[in-house]
Amino acid sequence: MDTQEFVKKYSIVRKNTDSVKWDGMENSFDGNTSLIPMWVADADFKCPEEVVQAVEKFAALGVYGYTLAPKTYKQAFIEWEKEQHHFDCKEEWIRFVPGVVSGLYITIKALTHPGDAVIIQTPVYYPFADSVKNTNRKLIISELVDNNGKYEMNLDDFEQKIIENEVKLYILCSPHNPVARVWSEEELSAVFKICQRHNVIIVADEIHQDLVFGDHKHTTAFNVEQGNYIDSIVMLTAASKTFNIAGLQNSFLVTASIELGEKIDDELKYDALVFGNPFGYRAAEAAYRHGHDWLKAFLKVIEENYQTLKMILSQNAGIHVYPLEGTYLCWVDLRDCVTTDDIHHIVQDIAGIAVDYGEWFGDNGMGFIRINLATTPERVNDVANRLLKAVSS
Ligand SMILES: Cc1ncc(COP(=O)(O)O)c(C=O)c1O
Repeated sequence: MDTQEFVKKYSIVRKNTDSVKWDGMENSFDGNTSLIPMWVADADFKCPEEVVQAVEKFAALGVYGYTLAPKTYKQAFIEWEKEQHHFDCKEEWIRFVPGVVSGLYITIKALTHPGDAVIIQTPVYYPFADSVKNTNRKLIISELVDNNGKYEMNLDDFEQKIIENEVKLYILCSPHNPVARVWSEEELSAVFKICQRHNVIIVADEIHQDLVFGDHKHTTAFNVEQGNYIDSIVMLTAASKTFNIAGLQNSFLVTASIELGEKIDDELKYDALVFGNPFGYRAAEAAYRHGHDWLKAFLKVIEENYQTLKMILSQNAGIHVYPLEGTYLCWVDLRDCVTTDDIHHIVQDIAGIAVDYGEWFGDNGMGFIRINLATTPERVNDVANRLLKAVSS
């Protein structure tokens, strides 16, 4: 399927469908509800046909009582991980959580105590910081550094802060939202070595694992150094970003450690999270089994959208568009052309666009914006031109 065919077949009008992205702008954008939404990380495309059919088939049953996770659902995930990421996931390692963010809260509560220190690397997906603060743990930040246009981890700072604060748990974003890095195995190995030296548990948020471009290869945390760190890893992932089914609220928590698994099971019981969403089970299974062609075309659309955005925005030398190694979220630096005080006004009021503002991801995101490219090429073209004009005027 080429990109035109994909866009024609799957793009959809989402306004007035109670979409958070399209109909939920009011609170985040000063009451403005008519912006072009390029913020919340979901896609303006219908999911694969087989997913819709699976949901319709279950809906037709007419009985929606407490439902077990089908055995085939776990199996579909295991096969997907093996085929796409060479990850040998064992069935007994898998737990179900409604979302990756709820999985994060569960993991923090299960594996640390109030007051314990948890480290994150900013700029990063803002619920990471929220999950640490809201569970009364101590938030420790190690900032990523921009090395000639490429974000890297600051390993010396990371280790120093772990030692100084006796950090107990590290939340890794891999691939990284919002800077769109796909961490190499060498990078992961370096940071994991530090965690191992100081007994720090690694929570790997791999929700964007299937969204990688060009020669970049996602390395599952479990596979780093042939599994050297598997006893200290909790992986959180889902089919939700890959196939646009986040609303169905089904995600995976994976740990190979019996000790960590037992603590997490206790926390799941305590939070009364026993049954998942039966529509979500069926949707994810169908996506993993039948979504390959859809995903291939979806990735091509994003890649082309990125090229369009970059080509248009680079007409202003003051706009810096970062490489898109993974995710469909593009990180753009406006600091050379707009004062940080003016960014909201220029992006919202002049260009008429809703984006994620960089400062949402940490203080070092100030002056940046994050643009969601999982939409039609036409909309990306329009948004890029509006932004170029607004910033340049
Ligand atoms: C890194 C990352 N983790 C988690 C989520 C959300 O996951 P969920 O909706 O399953 O809680 C997102 C959504 O954008 C994300 O980018």
